[in-house]
Amino acid sequence: MLNKINDLVEKVQQFHADSAESIEQFRLKFLSKKGEISLLFDEFRNVPAEMKKQVGVEINRLKQLAQQKYDEATQQIENIVSDSDKHDLTRPGEAFEMGTRHPISLVKNEIIDIFSRIGFTVAEGPEVEDDWHVFSAMNFPLEHPARDMQDTFFVEKASNNEPNPHDILLRTHTSSVQSRIMEKRQPPIRMIFPGRVFRNEAISARAHCIFHQVEGLYVAENVSFADLKQTLLYFSKEMFGPDTKIRLRPSYFPFTEPSAEMDVSCTICGGKGCNICKGTGWLEILGCGMVDPNVLENCGIDSKKYTGFAFGMGVERIAMLKYQVRDLRLYFENDIRFLRQFKSAY
Ligand code: PHE
Repeated sequence: MLNKINDLVEKVQQFHADSAESIEQFRLKFLSKKGEISLLFDEFRNVPAEMKKQVGVEINRLKQLAQQKYDEATQQIENIVSDSDKHDLTRPGEAFEMGTRHPISLVKNEIIDIFSRIGFTVAEGPEVEDDWHVFSAMNFPLEHPARDMQDTFFVEKASNNEPNPHDILLRTHTSSVQSRIMEKRQPPIRMIFPGRVFRNEAISARAHCIFHQVEGLYVAENVSFADLKQTLLYFSKEMFGPDTKIRLRPSYFPFTEPSAEMDVSCTICGGKGCNICKGTGWLEILGCGMVDPNVLENCGIDSKKYTGFAFGMGVERIAMLKYQVRDLRLYFENDIRFLRQFKSAY
């Protein structure tokens, strides 16, 4: 009897499943009611009492082994079947959804595209900057409130807490890239600088502590305020449509002289007055001016020979006007239902 069991153990061990059919044969031969193992249990009745214990253990071991072999083989066959299923080349393809670009990227890319058509190239600068490039080189007086802790996120501040050109901070505007570029190269410079900026402000529908700007800089011989106006009018018509008008209001920035803020005629009502433009017919979109000679000199450019203009616009602001989004926070939450609505060539 023990010999017979050993024989069967060997056969079970040698079994190799190559098809669903051979597995079924294995089951019939060993595990079915009329199979070899059942027969052994029948014979077991005739085994002498003193052998029963040993033979019982062996039969059970054989039965377990056969069951295990069977389970493994069925599992293997199932895997092969589902694998070949995956590779069924006759199956129709599954449709997948196209993603969309973030509206801020769309508007940024469109701004870059518009300016590249009139010869502006693109550069970027660091988000973690020093005081020199953000403020000092840009002609901010040491006591200027924009250097104040309230507006600026500092990374490393001088120990006496006084403003210091070596302070490390998160840039509060992309104008810092102006000083970086002008230190490195001589005119003519005709470039735009897109990037993220950081200000310590409470988050609301109209303000955020992180936002995006695109800075423009043109320095060469005989650059005039008229060039600035014409460039910005071209940009506004390209961005908001050919009927768009612009208006410049005198303003102040430490790094431009004279300085102005620019409005475009309201993109919603066309200038008649509505609740978006608060009845004025105008929307403010950027700050601009002639580069202050002090800034040119701070960066090693001869202010007797060269003049320049600069402007800086808020990308969120332009996106809000273009897409009529009323709450700035939507740009940062990345709610897929919001993002899906933006499809564009950019
Ligand atoms: N840096 C200014 C701001 O962040 C914008 C600006 C840029 C104004 C260039 C004039 C010239 O508000």
